[in-house]
Amino acid sequence: MINKCLFPVAGYGTRFLPATKAMPKEMMPIVNKPLIQYGVQEAMDAGMRQIAFVTGRRKRSIEDHFDRTYELEDQISGTKAEHNLAEIRALMQSCTFSYTRQVQMKGLGDAIRTGETLIGNQPFGVVLADDLCIGDDKPVLSQMVDIFLKYQCSIVAIEEVPHEDTKKYGIISGKHLEDRLFMVDAMVEKPAVEDAPSNRAIIGRYILTPDIFEVLRDLPPGRNGEVQITDALNIQAKRKMVLGYQFKGQRFDCGSLEGFVAATNYFFKTMIA
Ligand code: G1P
Repeated sequence: MINKCLFPVAGYGTRFLPATKAMPKEMMPIVNKPLIQYGVQEAMDAGMRQIAFVTGRRKRSIEDHFDRTYELEDQISGTKAEHNLAEIRALMQSCTFSYTRQVQMKGLGDAIRTGETLIGNQPFGVVLADDLCIGDDKPVLSQMVDIFLKYQCSIVAIEEVPHEDTKKYGIISGKHLEDRLFMVDAMVEKPAVEDAPSNRAIIGRYILTPDIFEVLRDLPPGRNGEVQITDALNIQAKRKMVLGYQFKGQRFDCGSLEGFVAATNYFFKTMIA
């Protein structure tokens, strides 16, 4: 089984300024739950109960969210409001939470490398909370665990995007292996339309084997001067198998205003249905 899931949460969230001036973007609510809680729930549902955050300055409210709030809980004890805490309490009972800080914003690859101290030598999940995923029959990370159990290699979630959007994502090329599964032969971070090897984009769900840390340690900065996980996976794909999995479900890009509003509408509708 995969027990650990890493959440890189050090980013500034500049697209949501001024909301993110004094508040982490991961704490912005989709209806009444912070974005990060949806991701942690998905990890827990996939059996990953050791939650590891790569955090940064000004992100302390994430730690507080996954901890007791004694005074408040004492005040509302026995009232109707207590019911609103049921989900977060269930998460806190089932999971452990650990934190380390990324001192400089040097890219997603650097954030994941920073998380090694919390992960150690075992395969692990990575969730980018900005991508809020709804799985069809089961959550996306659970679908990926099923594939990992069969193939025991790194896996990236993929989705087909319009060609003009390839510049926003890591893009894979690969051979079709079986239903929804591609054996990756190359990956490129945010290519221009004319350089994109396909329109299959990496979405913020990964399962990584721990040898990725060794690759990341020696990796020079790539696109935008940042250490890119895409470049590390590209090296891994040349050494051994890396799979791209076209997940069953839907994704909201909550890193964009449009996606954030669409997710809010979706969850509000399910709530009042
Ligand atoms: C990151 C990755 C990119 C991936 C994307 C998914 O980019 O670098 O490969 O496609 O997440 O959301 P970011 O959105 O952090 O710029």
